[in-house]
Amino acid sequence: MNFVSDNAFGVAPEILAALSRANEDTAPSYGEDDLTARVQARLCDVFEREVAAFPVVTGTAANALALATICPPYGAIFCHEESHIVVDECAAPEFFSGGARLVQLKGNHGKITPATVSAALPLYRRGVHGVQPAAISITQATELGTAYTPSEISALGELAHREGMALHMDGARFASALVHLRCTPAELTWKCGVDVLSFGATKNGALCAEAVIFFNRDLVRDFELRRKRGGHLLSKMRFISAQLDAYLADDLWLHNARRANELAQQMANVLSPIRDVRIDIPVETNAVFANVSVTFAAHLRDKGAVFYDWTEPANGRVVIRLVLSCLTPEDAVSQFLSVAAESA
Ligand SMILES: Cc1ncc(COP(=O)(O)O)c(C=O)c1O
Repeated sequence: MNFVSDNAFGVAPEILAALSRANEDTAPSYGEDDLTARVQARLCDVFEREVAAFPVVTGTAANALALATICPPYGAIFCHEESHIVVDECAAPEFFSGGARLVQLKGNHGKITPATVSAALPLYRRGVHGVQPAAISITQATELGTAYTPSEISALGELAHREGMALHMDGARFASALVHLRCTPAELTWKCGVDVLSFGATKNGALCAEAVIFFNRDLVRDFELRRKRGGHLLSKMRFISAQLDAYLADDLWLHNARRANELAQQMANVLSPIRDVRIDIPVETNAVFANVSVTFAAHLRDKGAVFYDWTEPANGRVVIRLVLSCLTPEDAVSQFLSVAAESA
């Protein structure tokens, strides 16, 4: 009963098979291979326009390289205070950009709004003395499993562009948000002003594959040199591309995300009527944040469930995080739910 993270699970069989196929022959190195070209073409199809896509192997690299490319060393990046780039990347965005400032903003359910960004902007409009506003970065789906709607993103995109900034999206769980919102990849990105996307696949069935996708070629600038210098131009790039190719083929990415989201929904439906459980954060993608008593959480753990506490316990209660993966076995969910029901 592992609900710690979608990273805890393995690799989707279709992606493992694709890796095996890529291993059968020789191929040009450093991304000059056919699979990398095919991924580029597939992503143009998926996003319904010419995009420039660059595979990398971690989400941290995708975010840090994307942000460094759109933000100068003296630039400010407006983002949520709980965002992965703030909390979980060991200052990689600051390092890769040569010193950009992450401006940490508050916001309900993991989201920032134009109002919070606008309120912070005057501090950064101080001529040569100030850090210069350069980008807004949002996470889709958010760290709290919620999804920004296209209109919420449009409002941030309009603000960013009016103020001479670019809009970056950390899409480590882009597929989960997409299937929840039932819109097209284009409607959730460039059509609402996203300039560059960290397109994640690892959390949704890949072994290690992400792609930085620029919707406007002019923004690519020196990205390729940064990727090489940052150690993310893989000599055997075909193995990263093979994962992305299989991920996109036959809509595997959407299918996987739907499964993880459905399991989360199933979990929330059973947990929420339980008297000891409060679910205050809408369950929109593949994570459930449940406010439970400390004894309830301990009982779940005693019975073999594994998950993180999201908050420090206080007044006998704690918020626990339950993450579902496309590879979570169905019986792990049903076993967990019967343990939860019996401890209610
Ligand atoms: C929101 C978000 N962004 C990016 C990442 C990518 O991180 P990593 O560098 O571990 O691949 C993660 C991983 O958990 C994440 O949750």
